Amino acid sequence: MTEYTSIVTDVQNRVGYITLNRPEALNALNSELLTELVEVALRFDADTEIGAIVITGSERAFAAGADIKQMAELGFSDMYLGGPFPGWQGFERMRTPVIAAVAGFALGGGCELAMMCDIIIAADTAKFGQPEINLGVIPGFGGSQRLPRAIGKAKAAEMVLTGRMIGAEEAERSGLVSRVVPAADLLDEARKTAETIASKSLLAVYAAKDALQAAQEMPLSEGLRFERHAFAAAFATEDQKEGMRAFAEKREPHFKNR
Ligand code: CAA
Repeated sequence: MTEYTSIVTDVQNRVGYITLNRPEALNALNSELLTELVEVALRFDADTEIGAIVITGSERAFAAGADIKQMAELGFSDMYLGGPFPGWQGFERMRTPVIAAVAGFALGGGCELAMMCDIIIAADTAKFGQPEINLGVIPGFGGSQRLPRAIGKAKAAEMVLTGRMIGAEEAERSGLVSRVVPAADLLDEARKTAETIASKSLLAVYAAKDALQAAQEMPLSEGLRFERHAFAAAFATEDQKEGMRAFAEKREPHFKNR
């Protein structure tokens, strides 16, 4: 497997793992880390042997944001043309479900990276925040859009306008994370969730992810129309026949992604 400088990667039981690994900077997202992250994530996404992806950091930090030192002296045109952070939009178009396993700080771009994932599982040590306002800027990787959709306008406005961090429990209460687990169990829980997803029909998983994304982006009437088509389309697959027959025959289904 390729050696990377700022991430560690692994594949096990149809799950691709990416561990952010810049401990000296609390996994701050610099161009090197982001380039490696996006490259590997897209490679995992293109591999139909991989049914789920887990992204994690260290005990201390998932990621403490975009690298402040790298962007401090840049100007408008640098940033608008992609700056030190080109290409991360590719991450948002992935079809494979992505789980963020978050311990410690998930701030700024780190919180935004977690929100680009489909599921966030948080350790009880996790802290989420959009502190960009303290730096004289605003969220730049989607935080001003995804945070209000995830937790509602009032709390998102408070976080973005004051820079206040929230802990794991408040994040769960607000709907930002799907579950809080003891820090020692974080990777195991993420692994189990990822392996569960990876055991399903990839065709159904892609369709479910598409429909969930439509729910974030479309008005209800269009989303429901999208779902009706996607649901009917599932009946064109062998995996639908296998799943329903296995239920009737009281056995585990064997999906073939056909
Ligand atoms: N960029 C660059 N370096 C960072 C960093 C970041 N976002 N976050 C932490 N580091 C570095 C620190 O500079 C420090 O390095 P040195 O030892 O070389 O000084 C090292 O990581 C350890 O950090 P601290 O000593 O600050 O650790 P702490 O425990 O005292 O504080 C913290 C932890 C509260 C997370 C603090 O590091 C902090 O506030 N970090 C910045 C958080 C932030 O503002 N994030 C938003 C960035 S902007 C952004 O993300 C824009 C966007 O939306 C795309």
